[in-house]
Amino acid sequence: MICYGEIGCRTIDAANSRIAAKHGAGLAALIGCVNATKNKGFFSFDLPPIPGQTNGMMMMNAELSGELPKTYRGLDQLKVLSVRHWTKRTFSFTCERPASLRFRSGEFAMIGLPNGEKPLLRAYSIASPNWADDLEFYSIKVADGPLTSRLQNLQVGDEILIRPKPVGTLVHDALIAGKRLVLFSTGTGIAPFASIIRDPETYDKFERVVLTHTCRDIDELDYGKHLLAEIEGDELLSDVVGGRLTLISTTTRQDSAQMGRMTDWLRDDRFAAATSGPLSAEHDRVMICGSMAMLQDHKAICEGLGMAEGSNSAPGAFVIEKAFVD
Ligand code: A2P
Repeated sequence: MICYGEIGCRTIDAANSRIAAKHGAGLAALIGCVNATKNKGFFSFDLPPIPGQTNGMMMMNAELSGELPKTYRGLDQLKVLSVRHWTKRTFSFTCERPASLRFRSGEFAMIGLPNGEKPLLRAYSIASPNWADDLEFYSIKVADGPLTSRLQNLQVGDEILIRPKPVGTLVHDALIAGKRLVLFSTGTGIAPFASIIRDPETYDKFERVVLTHTCRDIDELDYGKHLLAEIEGDELLSDVVGGRLTLISTTTRQDSAQMGRMTDWLRDDRFAAATSGPLSAEHDRVMICGSMAMLQDHKAICEGLGMAEGSNSAPGAFVIEKAFVD
């Protein structure tokens, strides 16, 4: 539960208007779900949000099922709204959100491009939080990757395909209760956490949140740093976060202020020194996203501390998911 007094409003109605004015349809839709307990001055963010926009998606669906092969059925076409190239290896883009698309922050969806008889689809974490009007994705560019070699040329106004059934294990539902949420990421594995750290539910469930982002080079850390700056610069989100989010950015191949793999930081206590204490099975809940080797090494550390892996059907102390690779 979040007190609306925390965002500087004396009444729930004032809080709602303020959120609507600041964030438009997305958070305004969230407000539609706000479960206000006016007497106590609280509202909760725990009901599923309803995206505010309609965008002709039904018509496109009809076109798809009418003219394209069976393999395209059930896919939506989404217009690209913005593209940003962060480095020569990474870029992000936003696109329309279908009115019917609901997801839990941290989930992924199958997205891609038309490719003859069969669409070319890959699993991509949704980087935007579940209350946002648009969908955001953060991607690697692989020169000879079947999808990213094409996706990296996206322009505003182009269309991508999406199977509108997001799923995933990097979600609050797969974790048992804890005090601190620790999010370990490498490379584009930061994408699901870009969603989680902008979701008010995260700060409702945890006292503190630590996000680690390890990349080869300094410029690859920009996406995460920009996210933090964006949260800090947002009046409402920064009130919700209340200084409880810490970002640790490290490089492994280019000299920088903080260097090394996070697995090494955990083993030699640099992680404990940089945060509010060592990783603990008692208080910490962990989400991990990166390459297969990175997942295995972090998983071994968590299991070594006595943590059990969680899933949607059996929540545990840590959860893992492979970052998108090609
Ligand atoms: P390193 O440079 O030492 O391999 P990649 O771009 O290859 O996915 O790597 C992204 C980041 O993840 C790099 O900084 C890399 O460090 C780091 N990394 C790779 N494997 C592991 C691992 N097993 N455990 C922790 N970090 C890893």
